[in-house]
Amino acid sequence: MQTKMGSFISLEEAQNQKTINQFIPRNLPIKLLPMLLLLGVIGIVILYINIYTNQYAIVTKTPSKIQKCVQETKNLESWIKPPSSLFHDMNDTELFWRASFVPKVNKYPFKRTPKIAFMFLTRGPLPMAALWERFFKGNEKLYSIYVHSLPSYRPEFLPSSAFYRRHILSQVAEWGMMSMCDAERRLLANALLNISNEWFVLLSEACIPLRNFSTIYHYISNSQFSFIGAFDEPGPNGRGRYNEKMSPEVNITDWRKGSQWFEINRKLAVDIIQDNFYYPKFKKFCKPDCYVNEHYFPTMLSIESPHLLANRSLTWVDWSRGGPHPATFGKDDITDDFFREILHEETCVYNDQPNSPCFLFARKFSPSALDRLLENSVKFFGF
Ligand SMILES: *[C@@H]1O[C@H](CO)[C@@H](O)[C@H](O)[C@H]1NC(C)=O
Ligand SMILES: *[C@@H]1O[C@H](CO)[C@@H](O)[C@H](O)[C@H]1NC(C)=O
Ligand SMILES: *[C@@H]1O[C@H](CO)[C@@H](O)[C@H](O)[C@H]1NC(C)=O
Ligand SMILES: *[C@@H]1O[C@H](CO)[C@@H](O)[C@H](O)[C@H]1NC(C)=O
Ligand SMILES: *[C@@H]1O[C@H](CO)[C@@H](O)[C@H](O)[C@H]1NC(C)=O
Repeated sequence: MQTKMGSFISLEEAQNQKTINQFIPRNLPIKLLPMLLLLGVIGIVILYINIYTNQYAIVTKTPSKIQKCVQETKNLESWIKPPSSLFHDMNDTELFWRASFVPKVNKYPFKRTPKIAFMFLTRGPLPMAALWERFFKGNEKLYSIYVHSLPSYRPEFLPSSAFYRRHILSQVAEWGMMSMCDAERRLLANALLNISNEWFVLLSEACIPLRNFSTIYHYISNSQFSFIGAFDEPGPNGRGRYNEKMSPEVNITDWRKGSQWFEINRKLAVDIIQDNFYYPKFKKFCKPDCYVNEHYFPTMLSIESPHLLANRSLTWVDWSRGGPHPATFGKDDITDDFFREILHEETCVYNDQPNSPCFLFARKFSPSALDRLLENSVKFFGF
């Protein structure tokens, strides 16, 4: 920079020098000499003042120009580089706007290894962290982690942990309320800031992985569809939650239901965080007993991009015990038979082919299940 600055100054001086030379013509008639001399002197005085002010201006401007040069690198990397830490000062409006930037040229002019963003929506601690760490180990180039917990929660992960400093700026999120969807959008937006993230998986603290990392990465990265539960359910807990005031943006035939634990690609993630067309309708007209986190994303995505959806979730859950909440599994439930059933019984359509495994993740597991899961993780899940 210093040398460039130097050559810049000397270029200016050279220009001034040239101007002075032009003011002293070669062949002068003798009679005009005194007058020309006078004019010349005046001219030189004016020029001198000019040069002096110019130089002065250059000298005073120089330090700030140098500083600017040092801060601004102008290669491609500086334009696409994500922030080195997850902390930023943007509020949701600013964050969603920034996260909605999308390149229009399809081919990346650099080597991009697409990653899966694992987004944990939690209240506080992550009791299954040890199992996830084992799952992630050795695949650092292929995943990123984002955690949204209650703002009051102070995470205590060691620098060696995959979860260390992966908590994003959060706000209170309540089940069935728009604040829950806001938290999910906040996770998506933060993950979108990193251009390497291509797939986005939403998980809770009660979720576990059911397969090893390479199997999950392969399954997600080779799928033509994104995985989000989206079905048209007649009856009070499905269509019964629809409010006519949501039309014409959302008609009853568009109304979908599904659990919120989704896996979506980058395009759909951007669609979700940029939406301000359906959002106000859901916020205003889908309040308990309409649980907005079970309807907003499935309905919105089914209207906009039905051809991109598998209409099923990758997260296994057991509703067979009845009631408003799915079953939670503790220590005593963790047996060979239990996982044999989950992993091998059901088959699903995958890329229009039948007989593929349905599930990559499962919920809900209580903290008491952890030790047994860790003891048997190789046998159960192959990691
Ligand atoms: C974003 O991705 C890059 C490249 O994979 C990684 O090195 C960096 O740590 C990530 N940044 C954040 C803030 O997650
Ligand atoms: C974020 O800040 C901008 C600029 O101050 C403001 O216009 C906007 O309403 C804020 N958004 C939220 C969600 O607070
Ligand atoms: C992951 O699991 C698959 C299927 O069980 C297996 O074929 C593969 O070798 C495993 N990969 C690793 C890295 O352990
Ligand atoms: C809902 O129905 C109205 C009237 O038939 C139509 O104009 C509108 O496009 C429909 N909305 C959607 C999302 O299909
Ligand atoms: C998912 O449902 C939509 C209708 O909402 C349909 O158009 C689409 O084909 C379905 N996806 C698959 C993979 O069947």
